[in-house]
Amino acid sequence: MFAGKKILVGVTGGIAAYKAAEMISRLRKQHAEVHVAMTKAATEFIAPLTLQSLAANPVHVELFEEPKLWNVEHISLAEYIDAVVVAPATANILTKMAIGLADDFLSTVLLATRVPIFVAPAMNHAMYHHPATQANLAILKERGIYVLGPNTGFQACGTDGDGRMSEPVEIVEALARFFVSRDWLKGKRVLVTAGGTQEPLDPVRYLGNRSSGRMGYAIAQALQETGAETILLSAPTDLPTPSGVTRISVQTALEMYDAVLARFLEVDVVVMAAAVADYRPAVQAEQKIKKDGTNCTLELVPNPDILAELGRRKTTQILIGFAAETENLLANAQSKMQRKNVNLIVANDVTKPGAGFGCTTNIVSFLFPDGRKIDFPQLSKLEVGRLLVRELTSLLEVEIKE
Ligand code: PMT
Repeated sequence: MFAGKKILVGVTGGIAAYKAAEMISRLRKQHAEVHVAMTKAATEFIAPLTLQSLAANPVHVELFEEPKLWNVEHISLAEYIDAVVVAPATANILTKMAIGLADDFLSTVLLATRVPIFVAPAMNHAMYHHPATQANLAILKERGIYVLGPNTGFQACGTDGDGRMSEPVEIVEALARFFVSRDWLKGKRVLVTAGGTQEPLDPVRYLGNRSSGRMGYAIAQALQETGAETILLSAPTDLPTPSGVTRISVQTALEMYDAVLARFLEVDVVVMAAAVADYRPAVQAEQKIKKDGTNCTLELVPNPDILAELGRRKTTQILIGFAAETENLLANAQSKMQRKNVNLIVANDVTKPGAGFGCTTNIVSFLFPDGRKIDFPQLSKLEVGRLLVRELTSLLEVEIKE
């Protein structure tokens, strides 16, 4: 099941820590390469030697210990692995993850890594239902972290209720489903554009827009999770490149046009999530434009419409476009879908709170040329990306095995 997959098991300090031994053993029996990071508290419940022997790899506890394999070990491990599963995940580690606290080896890897993260909460049912824990879990889910369980039943503290860690077999099955059924797009090459292009006026100024790149980066991550060879053509942004994705940086609409067209014949799919400037300054001043107290008029010339050009040239490629609208969402999105000859358009009303530019969530509808329309509630951009990938599998006529 897990041949070639490198999984980091994070173990935190709860009585269910003993179940980590069975989980590691199951992962190894299914040919996973297992690495283990324990919090100090976890070592009070189960000996690192036990987990080290089952994983057949050194166990990491201290942040500043002698490197066992690489230098700056938490960073190299964060980049090396294919997934992390934290089981048991105490209320404490969930809080640290939610606020981005990195004060030991495990929490530092969790902050540094860009691979899929699974958590299996395990705690007393009152702690589980505490508004703080529920708020932290909501934040983690919104960021695309997979929450497994918890189960309901007898708890070590003597009570009955929610908060029992999912059984090792359930956790390993969830991981297997993720890896096995997620290679849907293996062999497919997908190009995703992200961010807002910048159109220089002079050496220090540009015309830009409010796109952060989050939507496109989330789609690239979702594609990579399903095995697609993913090329991310990015306008300027500070976002980290999702692990396993090839990023190509551009600044202007013309650069994006050239970069997309140069690769169009090599890809199966193009997803245009970028906010491409429709106009650029007719002249780019060589020196900083000086103010002289009078009005200043800029002459703008149209940029090429990249997606419309792809729509004209496409043969077998699938094209997915976005429509960022401030009025008449559906009518405008439908008209763009037809004009640009795309297979699916994602309509977002960017005036709604929690949707569109800059935020971590989006509220979208998928529109298809046959008139179908699917509306979604407010979701994290990663969830929107994952739903888009599901639609893409049908457009590519790829079978999904769950
Ligand atoms: O980056 P974020 O902060 O996460 O914000 C996400 C987003 C709002 C930018 C994203 O969800 C989105 O809507 N992207 C498309 C923005 C846009 O430019 O929409 P548009 O309606 O102007 O363009 C329609 C489509 O044509 C888009 O796919 C666009 O990439 C493409 N286009 C537009 C102009 C142009 N010259 N060439 C193009 O290819």
